[in-house]
Amino acid sequence: MRALVAPSILSADFNNLGEDIEMINQSEADYIHFDVMDGVFVPNISFGIPVIEHVKKIAKKPLDVHLMIVDPDKFIEPFVEAGASIITVHYEACRHLHRTVQLIKSFGAKASVCLNPHTPVAVLEDIIGDLDMVLLMSVNPGFGGQEFIENTYRKVAQLRELIDSTDTDCKIEIDGGVNYETGKKLLDKGADVLVAGSFVFSAGNPKEIISGLKSL
Ligand code: DX5
Ligand code: ZN
Repeated sequence: MRALVAPSILSADFNNLGEDIEMINQSEADYIHFDVMDGVFVPNISFGIPVIEHVKKIAKKPLDVHLMIVDPDKFIEPFVEAGASIITVHYEACRHLHRTVQLIKSFGAKASVCLNPHTPVAVLEDIIGDLDMVLLMSVNPGFGGQEFIENTYRKVAQLRELIDSTDTDCKIEIDGGVNYETGKKLLDKGADVLVAGSFVFSAGNPKEIISGLKSL
């Protein structure tokens, strides 16, 4: 099956965000990925609900919102209201993850859980059946353009095995340091969705890069 591709607007040109969204609309991308950072859960602050609301008005792809924030329960409804189709919360930021996943679903969004590089796949054993997607961080969250963490390949294979042992069709999304080389290996290990920020937006031909990721 062809890869699903989610360009991350963290690396977009915020002086011309509308043009970059239009490029994604016309590209083969499947989602638009938003890296929301609060400066507490991660050592960086990015953007929040106003950006999602404005992009939603012109977006022609589902909004895939990655919440790198503490206490995400407070913001599930506002982000769904703003236009999020997929909400990803960090396992490491949730005191009651099962309740948070149910909360995301209660607002009609797809529920996704993210694991930082140090968090083992096994922590999801008792909730994998409730998830629409698992996002594996292949860099330490907070910044685009970082070096890919090689151990991610092992985690993808483990997660693929865990998902295949259930009758769920939970997707595997990977975020950080994705390019043609890492992307191909990730897909071979069983990943479904590739998030790419700097690889897409640093290129002179972002639409072609997206198509190239789709056809890995
Ligand atoms: C990290 C962010 C980045 C971003 C993609 O917190 O989540 O991983 O989406 O970054 P690139 O593709 O530039 O490594
Ligand atoms: Zn992300």
